[in-house]
Amino acid sequence: MRIGYAQTNPVFGEKEKNLKRALKLLEAAAGLEADLVVLPELFNTGYVFRSMREVWKLAEQIPDGYTSKALLDFAEENGLHVCAGICEATKEGTYNSALLAGPSGHCVTYRKIHLFGREKLWFMPGNAGLKVFAAGGVKVGIMICFDWFFPESARVLALGGAQVVCHPANLVLPYCQTAMLGSALQNKVFVVTANRTGVERSTRFTGRSQIVGPDMRVLARSGLREDVKVVKIRPEDADDKRVTRFNDLFKDRRPEMYGPICSG
Ligand code: ACM
Repeated sequence: MRIGYAQTNPVFGEKEKNLKRALKLLEAAAGLEADLVVLPELFNTGYVFRSMREVWKLAEQIPDGYTSKALLDFAEENGLHVCAGICEATKEGTYNSALLAGPSGHCVTYRKIHLFGREKLWFMPGNAGLKVFAAGGVKVGIMICFDWFFPESARVLALGGAQVVCHPANLVLPYCQTAMLGSALQNKVFVVTANRTGVERSTRFTGRSQIVGPDMRVLARSGLREDVKVVKIRPEDADDKRVTRFNDLFKDRRPEMYGPICSG
């Protein structure tokens, strides 16, 4: 199968324009025969909100909002899966979410658990857990940007059977791209970090989106411009959790020693 990402440079608030541009890049990924493509966090709205008014103005329901519908149509027409970060409107408030839209015309949602910086002013922390979804022939987990800083996120997804972790991001700190090599290896999964690039309201994003394999190899990486990358993988490579003849990543775990990780 082929997995990929589109690295975009959205303009704050220009939802239609940002969606149109992202669809162009998704078309390029479809042209490279991608089965699963990841877009950045909040790819259609931009990231640097200044008021709750702005958040509500740009938030959309999933799956009935304009952006969800466009992505669902695209997934259906092109026979692939798209994972994309969206500002989600619900009756109880707004979430920093990602949807995974599939060719069947259905989508599933993840809501960011670990909110970064001023996101805490705009979004409620995710309440739906870290889940693994079947996407065609592959098991997919989703985490959003700063979730990476908490190794529990990728671990929970790997323990849930994820072979590919989709990681829509709007990274501003310089650590993630290097740290994800460790995360991919320590969980023996593929990780697709789809980051945005550019500067928005004086905040600079770090680009360098990438795909890392379960053996820690960087299979694709971008620079600071808009970009599309697609690579061929064998998802089953992520099912082999052996480390040496004597060691297995999952069987060697000692959860009885990890109590503090699960206490508040
Ligand atoms: C981030 O979580 N967008 C840094």
